[in-house]
Formats: sequence, structure tokens, C-alpha cells
Amino acid sequence: MKGVTVVDHPLVSHKLTLMRKKDTSTKSFRQLLKEIGSLVCYEVTRDLPLETVEIETPLQTMSAPTIAGKKLVFAAILRSGMGMLEGMLELVPAARVAHVGLYRDPVTLGCVEYYFKTPGDLENRLVVIVDPMLATGNTAIAAVDRLKEAGAKDIRMACLLAAPEGISNFQGHHPDVHVWTAALDERLNDHGYILPGLGDAGDRMYGTK
Ligand code: URA
Repeated sequence: MKGVTVVDHPLVSHKLTLMRKKDTSTKSFRQLLKEIGSLVCYEVTRDLPLETVEIETPLQTMSAPTIAGKKLVFAAILRSGMGMLEGMLELVPAARVAHVGLYRDPVTLGCVEYYFKTPGDLENRLVVIVDPMLATGNTAIAAVDRLKEAGAKDIRMACLLAAPEGISNFQGHHPDVHVWTAALDERLNDHGYILPGLGDAGDRMYGTK
């Protein structure tokens, strides 16, 4: 599918299967989300530009590659974005973090914003939105709208599961934002949940149901 990369590495697929199982504990679910967060982050950042710097090894000087440009921003959608963010920060500990508080109105499935805080200078940074579930796509659309309003120009989306309906809604609004996901599932149910999915990611992460 154009504009979407499914990170179908065997480790990701295996861990995702464990997450989907309804009997997986809260503790394991959180741990697995963090681990998949790292693995998806590895792919999202695969093409980051490098520059060469002169360094000294204990034996001699050399020209060595380092990541060029300003620090990345991970924009976590509250609250389930936090679990995936943890794994991403393990891989890129110097990244800046934005928090975007959006919840889905259970009746309209539309988005309501309640918190938005980002680092400065967004226009010169790569911004990776972190939200495990791309379901209807409405949350992701609203997050990109706000981040673009705040100046972001180079945006990517990292998730765990996506529904085809959500992807097409999202791409209709933001065709410039590439999506990385651990799996593309079958469809949404009438309540906007992904099928077969894994249930409510926030509740499963925090044991709130
Ligand atoms: N959010 C979730 O946590 N799960 C879904 O299936 C859809 C949205």
C-alpha cells in the first residue's frame, strides 16, 4: 500500500501476536508495546541523513558518520502513545518529546483536544507521531493538523496496528505523512475498534478495564 510501511520483521510479528491475546497480562502488554516501539522506531529512522565528523579512536583519527540536523521530536498521543514512546526513546534517547492530548468522543468518534505541548523549532525537525492504534484515522488527522499549525513540516507516523479505513481517511487528509505500522488489520467494527485488533490499547496498557 502506497505511503504505508508494514514492519513485518519476525520479532515484531511474534511480539504483536502475544499482545493481541486477550489473556496477556497488563505487565507483559506494556513490555511488549515498548519493545515493538523500539523495533518500529528502527524502521522509521532507517533513512535519517548522516554527516561526517572527524573523531579520534584510541588508534587514529577517522571521518565517522553521525546523524545530521536537529534532534528528532517524538509526538506521543496520550495516553497509549506513552507506552510505545518509551521504546522509541530507548533507541533515540536524545529525542525531544511532544505530548498531544486527544480523545475520541465515543458517540461521534470525532477528536477532542485537551493538551498540546511541543518543543520549539518544529519547522526544522523531523516529527514522528506515536500512536499505537490508527483506527478511524481521526486522531492522527487531528494530531497532524495541530502539529502542522505549530510549524512542523516533516512528519511521520509510527503505529502498532492500522485499519484500512483509517489509512485511507488519513491519507485523504495528509498524503505527505508516511505511516509505519507493525500490522495492517482487516477492518473497523461499528464502535471504531480495529478487527481482529487487540482491544483498547490504553486500557490494556494501564489495566483500567
Ligand atoms: N483504539 C484502541 O485502543 N483500539 C482500537 O481498536 C481502536 C482504537
